[in-house]
Amino acid sequence: MIRVEKVKKDFNEDTKIHLKNIEFKDGKSYAILGVSGSGKTTLLNIIAGIVTPNEGRVFVDDIEVTNLTQKEKDNFRLKNIGYIFQDFKLMEDMTVEDNLNLLKIEKIDCIDIDNILEQVGLKNKRKIKVKKLSGGEKQRVAIARSLIKSPKIILADEPTGSLNYEKGIEIIELLDKFHKKSNHVMIFVTHDDRMAKFADEVIHFEDILVKGGKK
Ligand SMILES: Nc1ncnc2c1ncn2[C@@H]1O[C@H](COP(=O)(O)OP(=O)(O)OP(=O)(O)O)[C@@H](O)[C@H]1O
Ligand SMILES: [Mg+2]
Repeated sequence: MIRVEKVKKDFNEDTKIHLKNIEFKDGKSYAILGVSGSGKTTLLNIIAGIVTPNEGRVFVDDIEVTNLTQKEKDNFRLKNIGYIFQDFKLMEDMTVEDNLNLLKIEKIDCIDIDNILEQVGLKNKRKIKVKKLSGGEKQRVAIARSLIKSPKIILADEPTGSLNYEKGIEIIELLDKFHKKSNHVMIFVTHDDRMAKFADEVIHFEDILVKGGKK
């Protein structure tokens, strides 16, 4: 369970993101729809402990993430949150398998690499450098990396943003398949209504903004 309470992030005079209280429940999937620049990535980053809000609190179960030191937040994220970033954040010069092995170096409990690569359809790309993969394949590596540690929470920022409709649906179906097999909370951001309908609940970002916050 994730609880976002009275969170405000003021980047500057012109950009103030003030959020209503929101709760995300275990085992549920949520799609966040909203216009560019409204604060969707910022919300995911606040949940993940990457961006610190000016005010408010974020809880994951009974842990107040906003109260942890930066090092504790980083450890918490490594262990508990699978974050599929808008720009992947993969190591382009490393192979698919070495991108996944990085988590083991951090001493995170991981499921078998063969197993996860099979499930995301990348078993034959194991030894290929990430920079040689297509956009859809990179997205699959990012998904494998987020799932390999069996996280409590999956955050996916525009997981289909760079893909055409057919490839986008394949990726959403893959995320949905993993989600249904687990009890994790999944939150994905999308611009596309057709992707959003895969979620248990659709959240229109403007509905969770406190009016007058964002200028
Ligand atoms: N580090 C930062 N410093 C200053 N302003 C920032 C910073 N990060 C984000 N912003 C601003 O906050 C607002 C929300 O940004 P955010 O990336 O959360 O939007 P978004 O909804 O994810 O947009 P998109 O759909 O284009 O990805 C934007 O106006 C952005 O310019
Ligand atoms: Mg964004």
